[in-house]
Amino acid sequence: MRPDTRLRHYRSLYGNSGAMDLLYTQIRQVARTEATVLLEGESGTGKELIAMAIHQDSPRCDANFVAVNCGAIPAALIESVLFGHEKGSFTGAGSQHTGYFEHASGGTLFLDEITEMPANMQVKLLRILECGRFHRVGGSQEIAVDVRLIAATNRSLQEAVNEGFLRQDLMYRLAVFPITVPPLRERGNDAELLAQHFLDDLNNRAGTRKQFSRRSLERIRSYHWPGNVRELKNLVHRAYILSAGAVTLHEPTDASRRPTALINGVLNFMVGTRLVDAQREIILATLKHFQGNKRKAAEILGISLKTLYNRLREY
Ligand SMILES: Nc1ncnc2c1ncn2[C@@H]1O[C@H](COP(=O)(O)OP(=O)(O)OP(=O)(O)O)[C@@H](O)[C@H]1O
Ligand SMILES: [Mg+2]
Repeated sequence: MRPDTRLRHYRSLYGNSGAMDLLYTQIRQVARTEATVLLEGESGTGKELIAMAIHQDSPRCDANFVAVNCGAIPAALIESVLFGHEKGSFTGAGSQHTGYFEHASGGTLFLDEITEMPANMQVKLLRILECGRFHRVGGSQEIAVDVRLIAATNRSLQEAVNEGFLRQDLMYRLAVFPITVPPLRERGNDAELLAQHFLDDLNNRAGTRKQFSRRSLERIRSYHWPGNVRELKNLVHRAYILSAGAVTLHEPTDASRRPTALINGVLNFMVGTRLVDAQREIILATLKHFQGNKRKAAEILGISLKTLYNRLREY
């Protein structure tokens, strides 16, 4: 069975839901401007694609789009990676190096996982946003940059500020144009349409004509998609590889069969989750949080160590 609606898209972003229409409008509105954009949304919802679409639609499209994952750069290196360094400015700085800010000059710099940027760097970033100038590490000369900034986070912005991961002044400065990216489960039947789109793409590339089994389509509709579009795309790809004819989406991991999602230390439960399932999720997530320390987990959960052992044996 094929969904009868034609799938709409805006650049590389696909989806027909009202939530996606709103997103397309916001991208169109803000792309033309110089405004700093702050994207807030769960992992795998398409934040990087949105940032790219904004760049491609902007007058800066002929210059570079540079994406940086702030969470992946060691704290000790981040200043040099972003701003560059002068020769001999620290041990190992054998030559002059230009940073991402200079690479993105005239274009767009996408700072992903902005809340993972160390606090002292957040202060420097704020300063650049205010005055458009910075120093390379070890440099005395001020360098002017013309960069449009887009930042993203998969944490809740307010929580990130409250918990000290994001400076409030920086948040206000970044969120000139905030965009909340909806999770896939809030996009009507986009999951089904996207699944078909990803399958069509795989078929086109390999010259095959594989189709979803009826059962797979039911699963796509009913599943909660905690990993959002990324999870859907990967699941379709895996099922495509494994199938000879009818593409059957299994619920391949325990995680996908579970009624919950663990995101940034918060468990989300569907209304109607069985109590035994909720209890299992809470216990396993707490244990994971304390890196497998059963004594600590039992203490926090308010159960005896013996009860914890019994539960784990059951699971
Ligand atoms: N609306 C969409 N249409 C088509 N593909 C999409 C869409 N949204 C996301 N994707 C695909 O899903 C994957 C994840 O998207 P992306 O990396 O932009 O998510 P993200 O929000 O930046 O995730 P993270 O927070 O983990 O960095 C990519 O392969 C991307 O191409
Ligand atoms: Mg991303």
